[in-house]
This record gives sequence, structure tokens and C-alpha cells, in this order.
Amino acid sequence: MNPAVEFNNVSKSFGNFVAVRDFSLKVENGQFVTLLGSSGSGKSTSLMMLAGFMAPSGGHISIDGRDVTELAPHKRNIGLVYQNYALFPHMTVAANVGFPLKMRHVAKAEIARRVRSALEKVHLDVFADRFPAQLSGGQQQRVALARAMVFEPAILLMDEPLGALDKNLREEMQVEIKRIQRDVGITTIYVTHDQEEAMSMSDNVVVMSKGQIEQAAPPAQLYERPRNAFIAQFIGSANVIPGFVKSNEGAKSFVSETGTTIPLQMHGAVEEGARKAAIVRPERIRFGTGNDSLAVPAVVESVLYGGTMIRYATRAGEQRIDVVAVNDGGAPRQPGETVHLIWEPKDFLLVDATAN
Ligand SMILES: Nc1ncnc2c1ncn2[C@@H]1O[C@H](COP(=O)(O)OP(=O)(O)O)[C@@H](O)[C@H]1O
Ligand SMILES: [Mg+2]
Repeated sequence: MNPAVEFNNVSKSFGNFVAVRDFSLKVENGQFVTLLGSSGSGKSTSLMMLAGFMAPSGGHISIDGRDVTELAPHKRNIGLVYQNYALFPHMTVAANVGFPLKMRHVAKAEIARRVRSALEKVHLDVFADRFPAQLSGGQQQRVALARAMVFEPAILLMDEPLGALDKNLREEMQVEIKRIQRDVGITTIYVTHDQEEAMSMSDNVVVMSKGQIEQAAPPAQLYERPRNAFIAQFIGSANVIPGFVKSNEGAKSFVSETGTTIPLQMHGAVEEGARKAAIVRPERIRFGTGNDSLAVPAVVESVLYGGTMIRYATRAGEQRIDVVAVNDGGAPRQPGETVHLIWEPKDFLLVDATAN
């Protein structure tokens, strides 16, 4: 089967500014893929090239195996949802949703049937006769979603669709959009700058920076196996410790740029001497004892009591290492206390120190 969408070395320049560079991506049928990146990283530009509203400066885009690089937008069979959902204020919900079908000269009875079905999918069938102003922000966004799907497009594109909503409503809508997407089974490409949103909704997340893909992977893989220090810091939080691997009488250790030695117990080969970044997530660090041969001694510098979690800033020599512990009801460690940091060997990663 052909991938639903394929970008092949796509680039886009504005004058001599390169907004998207060498963008290659395959999206399989029915997948929910998110482009994640900070503002200006090239997400919308990539989406607009797929929709056909912007021509690539180089490369090719195909939909279901067919090269659409030169094809007009309305022939691409794509549904679009933006942050500013732009419902027609003077039309009812039903008329708004039916609009794309009317444009396509679908018969009236058929429009009524399909509008009803689209509104049922977003759980808004009882609001068919209302006007947009009589709906909440989240309901309006669901109308926009129904309108984008009513003509049964092959692909649904959403560009920061929840950007205008407050936090609670945004979280509700994430669940709702995910439910609808799963029910309908439509291939979806979603754009957001919110990493939690991307992680919770997607089958695959494409992390972009400066117009390039830094890493494309399922959420758990991005978190557990970040390709470089940029990804590790962008997805969740991480201790990123620049340094290099040293070997002494067969025992390997990692020496941070700040001069702290961390014993290594790693599977597989590690390149000695090369500049790397060690990554260890704060919640994967435990307090061991001085008897643990791999433990790193450190001193607690500050304690942040957060109810569920307790956050510690510690210092091992000159190297700051943050620890997050589940609050088990015991007395928290105190500033000035010496602790012994340990973790599973699998939770200590050596990655490229630099991004693309
Ligand atoms: N029409 C345009 N003319 C010039 N520069 C543009 C144009 N559209 C986008 N850009 C630039 O391209 C970069 C990527 O933009 P965009 O894809 O909108 O980023 P994102 O959606 O990730 O925030 C930005 O630096 C932006 O200023
Ligand atoms: Mg954008």
C-alpha cells in the first residue's frame, strides 16, 4: 500500500531565507502525525505545501502514491482546520458544515444526510440550527472539524486548532479530536508547538527546528531514545551533561565538562573521547547508598515540595543534577544533605551534543 502522504526532500525558500529544508516524511494510512516545533520552525509552511497553497522550491509531495506537487489545492481532497476556525457567522451550524458540499454541487437531500452524520461524529447534532455565536469556543471548533470532514477528505490537516482555547478546554478537545480521528480513521497531520499535546495525541511526532526535522518517532521513542540533546530537552525535561567517555583499566566512565566523573555501565560500544551529551531524566534517578558501586555522590542544594512530586536540585562536584521523586510520605531530603544518585544503566544515554 502507498503511504497516505509522502514528502520527498521538500524545501521552501523565501528570497534567500530557507523556511523548510530537505523535509522527507512518510505518513501511513489512518495515522495521526504531529509536526511539533517552536514558532517559526516551518510547521505551517510544510502543511501549506501539502495543502497546495504554497509551491515547494524543491522536492516532491505525493498523496496516496500520486505526485501532487503541481496539483491545484481543491483537487487534493484535503480537509483543513485552523486556529481561527472562521465559521460563517450568519449561517447555522448545519449550513456551515454543509457549505463544502454545496460548493461541490451535492444534492440537497444528500447534503442533509451527510451534515447530520458529520455533526453526530462530533456530538453536536442537537445544535444543528444554532448560530456560531450561540456556541462555546470548543463547540465552534468541533463545527469546524465537522465541516473539514463532511466531504470525506482523504487527509485532515489541523494547524494549531486549539491555540485559541484555554487550558482546560484545550485538554478536553485533545481527547475529543483524538476520539473523532480514531472513529473516522482519517489520516491526520496536526501542527502544534505544545509538546504535551503532541505526545498525548500522536502515533508519530515530527520534531522540527529551523526548518528541519530533528527527529521523527513515536512519542515513547522520542522520550526514551532522543537522538540528541536538543530533543531530550525539548521533550519533557532532562539532565543534559556535556562531556566525554574515558576508559581507565577497562572501566569506562563519563567525565562531564564540569569535571565530575560518572561511572558507566553501558551495553554496546561507546566511542571514547568524542564529545557527547549524557542524558538522564530526573524521575529516573533514585537515592541509593554509599555501598552502590555505581552511585554518584551529590549534595542536595534545594528542595521543592510539590505534593505529588518532590523536586531536588543536587550538585555532584560542580555538575548540577536534578532529581524528581514521588512523594512517598517519608521525610524529604534536606538542603546540605549528601545523597547517592543511582539509575538503571538503560536510563543513562549518550547522544550527540549538538542538534542538526
Ligand atoms: N510568505 C512568507 N514570506 C517570508 N517568510 C515567510 C513566509 N511564510 C513564512 N515565512 C517564514 O518562514 C519561517 C517558518 O514559518 P512557519 O512555517 O509559519 O513557522 P511555524 O508554523 O512553525 O511557526 C518563519 O521564519 C517565517 O517568518
Ligand atoms: Mg504556524
